[in-house]
Amino acid sequence: MWKELGKFGMGPPSGGGGDQQPGRGGGRQSPLGRNPLIWILVIGAILIYTQMDGSGSLFGPMDQSHVSRMAVSPDQVVGDFELVDHTGTPRTDEDFHGTFSLYYFGFTWCPDVCPSAMLVMTQVVEDLEAQGKTVQPIFVTVDPQRDTVEKLAAYVAQLPGLIGLTGSDVQVAQALQSFGITRRSQADGPDDTSYQVDHTSLFYLMGPDGTFIQHYLPTQGPTQIALEIERELTG
Ligand code: NI
Repeated sequence: MWKELGKFGMGPPSGGGGDQQPGRGGGRQSPLGRNPLIWILVIGAILIYTQMDGSGSLFGPMDQSHVSRMAVSPDQVVGDFELVDHTGTPRTDEDFHGTFSLYYFGFTWCPDVCPSAMLVMTQVVEDLEAQGKTVQPIFVTVDPQRDTVEKLAAYVAQLPGLIGLTGSDVQVAQALQSFGITRRSQADGPDDTSYQVDHTSLFYLMGPDGTFIQHYLPTQGPTQIALEIERELTG
């Protein structure tokens, strides 16, 4: 990086005092203009900022509240659950065997990262459909206290075919553990109804036999994810 920027005159000071170019006559310059290190820091910060969010900064950078790591190793993902869907019907993982399913775990109150991920999911499902491939999209709440059946029903209406799953605190806790999803409520006591929930933000591809195949980061973007899933569905 140092070398690259050096080509454009913004490299580090070299040999005899680098940034003091002859011919400028020692005129007054702003610190930004004079110090190449500051430029490098500024450019570095911009690069880091834009790299952090693969969705093109529409939803802001991914923050600490959304973890992009599974809590268990891939071979420990079981994917069992007994939950209730957005129509109030009890569902288990076995209801979704026989087809590939794409799971995301989040909460409907999430202001940025979850909506962004669900947009990616929508695009992935549509991309795959265009290739004649079917995956069942499923949204599992990490926040069953607020994500009631009614709340989920409104949420899943945004993507045709999307199944929303919630349940009792215990049911949801068991489901999340079975997938290796972590979540931590930021609620300030029982009266707080506008709290955030820190949680794992990943897509899980599950096979027709219910076994875990692969996980994807929403920041990979829909094109890349659809491509990788298509490979799994074909291979
Ligand atoms: Ni979220």
